Amino acid sequence: MSICWNQYPGRAFLHNQWPRKSMRLSPYSPNPSTHHEMFLSSFSTFSPSLRLPVAVFKCIRSSFKTTLSFSSARACAAMASLSTVSTDKEADQELKYKEQAVSPQPQVAKRLEKFKTTIFTQMSNLAIKHGAINLGQGFPNFDGPDFVKDAAIQAIIAGNNQYARGYGVPVLNAAIAERFRKDSGIEVDPEKEVTITSGCTEAIAATILGLINPGDEVILFAPFYDSYEATLSMAGAKIKSITLCPPDFAVPLDVLNSVVTKETRAILINTPHNPTGKMLTKNELEFIANLSIENDVLVFTDEVYDKLAFAAEHISIASIPGMFERTVTMNSLGKTFSLTGWKIGWAIAPSHLTWGLRQAHAFLTFATSTPMQWAASVALRAPESYYEELRRDYNAKKAILVDGLKEVGFIVYPSSGTYFVVVDHTPFGFPDDISFCEHLIKEVGVVAIPTSVFYLNPEEGKNLVRFTFCKDEGTLKAAVERMKEKLKRK
Ligand SMILES: Cc1ncc(COP(=O)(O)O)c(C=O)c1O
Repeated sequence: MSICWNQYPGRAFLHNQWPRKSMRLSPYSPNPSTHHEMFLSSFSTFSPSLRLPVAVFKCIRSSFKTTLSFSSARACAAMASLSTVSTDKEADQELKYKEQAVSPQPQVAKRLEKFKTTIFTQMSNLAIKHGAINLGQGFPNFDGPDFVKDAAIQAIIAGNNQYARGYGVPVLNAAIAERFRKDSGIEVDPEKEVTITSGCTEAIAATILGLINPGDEVILFAPFYDSYEATLSMAGAKIKSITLCPPDFAVPLDVLNSVVTKETRAILINTPHNPTGKMLTKNELEFIANLSIENDVLVFTDEVYDKLAFAAEHISIASIPGMFERTVTMNSLGKTFSLTGWKIGWAIAPSHLTWGLRQAHAFLTFATSTPMQWAASVALRAPESYYEELRRDYNAKKAILVDGLKEVGFIVYPSSGTYFVVVDHTPFGFPDDISFCEHLIKEVGVVAIPTSVFYLNPEEGKNLVRFTFCKDEGTLKAAVERMKEKLKRK
C-alpha cells in the first residue's frame, strides 16, 4: 500500500489501481479498518460521476466477501452506488445492499482528534431531551431590538444581497471604527485596519491562522473559550496555559512573567472573561503590555462582552501606549444586540497585522452576510442609552440568578462582566463538574456548563460550573425554584 494511497485515495483510484490495492492490505497498516474507510471514502468521492458494469461490480463484491474481513454489506453498498443498474431486479438488489449498509465511522484529521462535540451542543441537546431550563449555552431567550431587525429587512428589500466586499461593507467598517474611537479613544482606518468576519469566532480563526505558524508558542489563560484551543491546534501552535484560580481569577503575574519569553509569539486574552466574568484590571493589562513589548509578542484580545461590564470600566489593551501596533482586537455584534445567530464579527488591527488575518479570512469565508452587515452598521450607531439600558436589564437578571444560587447553597464567585457566573458545586457532594451537570439536567431540570472543558488539564475545572443569566426573568426564577426544591446539600 503506497503512501500515495494513504494520502490521495481518490487519485489512486483514478490511476486504475483500486482493485489490486483494495485486495491487499498493507503490512504497514496499523489498523486495517482505516484502509477500509479510505477505500470506501474514495468511492463516495467519485460515485456520482463514475459508472461500472454490474458484472464487474458483482465480481468485486464477491472478492471482497472472501478476501477481506470487514462488513461486506458496507463495501457492497459503496460499490452499488458505482454501478449502472439496468434491471428492476438489480435495482432491488442495490436497494437491499444500501439498507444493509452500516453508517461509516466518523473520521477526523489528527489536529482535531481530541475535540469532541462541543459541550454547548451536548448540553443543549440534553436540555431538549429532558425538558430542562437551559442556563448553559450563552444565547438569549429573547430577541434583539426592533430597530436592528428592521434595518436588516430594509437592507434585504433594498437589494443588498450579493457578496459583500471581502473585508466588509464600507458603512460597517466605518461604524466599527467610529465605535472603537468612542470606546477606546483610538483612531483607526476603517479601510485598512478593520476587517468584518463571520462572528468573533471567525475573527479568532483568521487571526490565528493568518498570524501563527506551526510550532509558534501561544499563551492562553485557563479557563478559556473553547474555540481558542481548537483553532490553535488547527494552526499547529504550541499552547501554554496559565490558570486563573478562584475566588477572584486574578492573573498570576509572577507565573506569567516566567512563561513569556522571546519564544512566545502571542498572548490571547479575553476580557470580560468567559466563563468567569473576570475583567482584567488596568494593572494586569499593563503588566501584559510591558511583557509583550519587552519580548516582542503579539496580543490577541477577545472583547465580545465589552458592553456587559458591570463592576468596572472595560479597558481595551490596544489603548495602552505602545500596544496598538502589536494587538488584534476582536469583537462581535451577537452579545451586545442579543442577535447571536447573525454572526457578524470583526477584527481591528494595524495594517501590517490586518494583512495576515485578511489573507486567512479571504480563504475561510471570503465575505460575510451582506444585509446583516448593513443592519450591523445601524446597530453600532445606537445611542449610549441603548447600552445603559442593556446593562440595567442584565444587572436585574444577574441579581436574580446570583442571589438564587447563593440561597440554593452554591459557593458563588463574583462576576464583574459578561452574562455568566461561575460557582463551586462541591457542597452537593458530586465528584466532578460533569457528574454534577448530568444530575442537574436529569434530576433537577436545569442546564449548566461543566467548566473542565475550558482547561488544558480538565482536573483544574472539576469543582466549577457556569450558569448564564441571558434569559428572561421568569426563566431565571423558575430555574432557581427548581434548584431550591430538588438540589440537596450533602
Ligand atoms: C469569549 C467568546 N468569544 C467569542 C465568542 C463567539 O462569538 P461569535 O458568536 O460572535 O462568533 C463567544 C461566544 O460565546 C465567547 O464567549
